[in-house]
Order: sequence, then C-alpha cells, then structure tokens
Amino acid sequence: MASGDWLLATGDERVGCLAFSETPAPPSPRPGYAATADLDSIAEGFERLERGEAVGGLAGRLWSAGISLGGARPKAVVEHCGAQWIAKFQRRDDTYDQCGAEHATMRLAARCGIAVAETRTRDVGPRRVVLVKRFDRDPGTHAPTCHFMSGLTALGLDETSDSGSYPELARFLHFYGAQHGSDRRELFRRMAFNVLCGNRDDHLKNHAFLRRDGAWRLSPAYDIVPQPDMDPQQAIGVGRSGSYPTIGNCLTRAPDFDLSQDEARDLVATLAARMRSWRQDFAADGVDEATIRRLARAFSTDLDRPPASEAAASSRS
Ligand SMILES: Nc1ncnc2c1ncn2[C@@H]1O[C@H](COP(=O)(O)OP(=O)(O)OP(=O)(O)O)[C@@H](O)[C@H]1O
Ligand SMILES: [Mg+2]
Repeated sequence: MASGDWLLATGDERVGCLAFSETPAPPSPRPGYAATADLDSIAEGFERLERGEAVGGLAGRLWSAGISLGGARPKAVVEHCGAQWIAKFQRRDDTYDQCGAEHATMRLAARCGIAVAETRTRDVGPRRVVLVKRFDRDPGTHAPTCHFMSGLTALGLDETSDSGSYPELARFLHFYGAQHGSDRRELFRRMAFNVLCGNRDDHLKNHAFLRRDGAWRLSPAYDIVPQPDMDPQQAIGVGRSGSYPTIGNCLTRAPDFDLSQDEARDLVATLAARMRSWRQDFAADGVDEATIRRLARAFSTDLDRPPASEAAASSRS
C-alpha cells in the first residue's frame, strides 16, 4: 500500500487534526470507534483475527481502524463516559499482565508529578484491556482539539533511523515550545522515570507534541510500561553515553533540560523516593504477584541507592 493510500484510509479515529481526501472537500465522517459496551464482542473478534480467521462486522472494522494508531498491541478507539479512549488489548502471547502493568505504571508516573493520559483497566472475557483517554479529542463532541506531532516527526527522522535522543527533543522544545522551560524539565522527569522503571521502549513515537493556539507543548505521557524482557538500553539517547540506562548518564545533559546539576539530582532523588514503594502501589492497582515479580527485573537498582543524595550532599558541602 502506498503511503498516500494509508493516509486516505484513516477514519475519524486518527490521531491529531489532519484529515485527508482526494478532493479539496473534507472527507466525509467515518467513525472508527465503538462503545465500551461492545468491548466483549470486539475482544472476541480480535481473538479470532489473531488466530488468522477472517472477521467482518464491528471487530473487523475497528481492527483495521486501530492499525492507523500504530504500535504492536491490538487496539480500538471506544467511547466511554462521553470521551474517546484507546482500548489496548492483552495479546494472546502475553506471558504476564501487560495491560495492568501499563495502567499501574502510568498511575505511578502521575504520582511522581508527570502529566499522563488517564487510564483504566477492564476485564473482557478472557482478556484484559487498558483504556487510555485521548488527549486530542474534545470529550463532548469528539472533535479534534489540537494538532499532534510525534517526536519522530519533530526531529525530522524516519522509522529506519536509529538516532534520536531526549536532549534533541529538549532542543526542539527550546526552539519551538510555548513553555520550553517547564516542558524541558518535565521531559527530564519522564526520561529519569523511564530509566528507573525500565521502560526501554521509549522510542520517538512514544513522545509527542500538541499544537494549540499556534504553539507547541509536550503532550501528556503515554505508553509507559516496564520492559523486563528487552535489551537493557533505552530506545533513544539519554546522555553523553548514548542510550545506556543509568541516572548518571541522564545527569550528564541536565542543562539541556533547563536544570542545574543540583536541581536534576534533587528531582531524581524525589522521583526515586516516590517510586520505591512501587510493588505496593502496583498491588493496590490490581497487578498480580507474578506480574510484579516479573517486572522487578526491569526496575533499576538506582531506586535502592539513589545517586543524588550523597553526591549532591558532598558537592554542596
Ligand atoms: N492518550 C492518547 N491520546 C491521543 N493519542 C494517543 C494517546 N495515546 C497514544 N496515542 C497515539 O496512539 C499511538 C499508539 O498508542 P501506544 O503508543 O499507547 O500503543 P502501542 O505503541 O501500540 O503500544 P504497545 O506496543 O503497548 O501496543 C501512539 O503512538 C500515539 O500516536
Ligand atoms: Mg507506542
């Protein structure tokens, strides 16, 4: 399929404001979402599609529409409590509760002061689903509220490139961001959080910018999940030692994020202190014991020996 065909095939579920048609007239409305009440039948249809069976109807339509959102997990846009949510379904080959892990990690991030998309979990038939509230649609009308640009586009890169880094995203904010100081500090907080919780899949399409009133802001955070089975490297660079996932490496570029060394160390110490009870927090959010044991491999040992406190104390004394 040519890239133009992909653009024309997107429906109202697409991310951001842009719509595509072959004539100057806007495309006719093509709702690509369903109600949460339909999650059971969608899950059942997705199950059959994953087994390679041909499925039409609602599940077939939503499966195709979900492809425009990208990513690895089967997903569909659903309407719930008057708003649009992205429903990300457990996969047949998941060996632990990834949906629960995503929900609990996003909530932990929120408790660490990170602006995150709201999430909820549901059990539908034999599968779990994590619902992620869309930040680019008006809850009342479902009308697009803002333009969306991924980090990949912001840096002018494409899928085949293996470059890109948090400092480069910070640089984009520095030049084009409406509130570049606070957004760069927020980006540093997200980077440190991803390193500490072991979310290695923090590639450039898992960061985005929203444009409202002619200015770019960092979007709420999304797709934050510890990855115990991935290579112990971040997907993009965090500091002078590239994507090597340590807080020490993150700190090497602190000024790029509008932070002094001391401010960055204090920020990390606060983050690590808040994250140290993650096991209890995840259990309270409904994550089972086996999943928590599995995820423990992803969490950094920097949590147990915060790098900041002694170093910061000695540099100040
Ligand atoms: N809350 C949201 N509001 C608007 N768009 C979103 C939101 N969350 C994600 N998106 C968009 O949808 C895309 C897919 O979502 P996400 O990254 O969560 O899934 P994924 O990459 O498929 O994750 P997984 O690998 O777990 O399946 C994102 O790259 C982003 O463009
Ligand atoms: Mg993603």
